[in-house]
Amino acid sequence: MAVERTFSILKPDATARNLTGAINAIIEQAGLRIVAQKRVQITRKQAEQFYSVHRERPFFRELVDFMVSGPVVVQVLEGENAIAKYREVMGATDPAKAAPGTIRKVHAKSIGENSVHGSDAAETAAREIAQFFSENEIVG
Ligand code: RTP
Ligand code: MG
Repeated sequence: MAVERTFSILKPDATARNLTGAINAIIEQAGLRIVAQKRVQITRKQAEQFYSVHRERPFFRELVDFMVSGPVVVQVLEGENAIAKYREVMGATDPAKAAPGTIRKVHAKSIGENSVHGSDAAETAAREIAQFFSENEIVG
């Protein structure tokens, strides 16, 4: 295993409920280090680009509407096997199917408003980090 970086978003349902600290505590307790973080309002164009893989899906418009509905916190997480580790810590997309103790089981409201995003592979992690951070903003 190697030290990896993954990209995370604390979604608008999380910032609206003041859950950024509670979610960061779960992330840090899992051994992932938050090496970059900022609170931003993303634009519709950024959201459409970010989730472009889903543009033909029936939920795409709803997803984009949700992601621009309020501030988000974008993060870079670093650690051993960080990409798979964070997916595990987040839990299943649908909180009803997420394992006990995962962020989505504890905090998510629904499959749409599911509190967090995490990259699903090395190439997507690199691309997503580059969409929101320059290298000098990431301090490991
Ligand atoms: P994410 O990309 O946000 O980390 O979530 P994920 O990998 O677990 O799930 P993905 O299949 O990539 O879906 C992206 C986001 O789209 C919303 N979604 N809504 N209404 C629905 O059936 C539905 N399915 C997916 C969720 O917000 C999901 O996180
Ligand atoms: Mg995904």
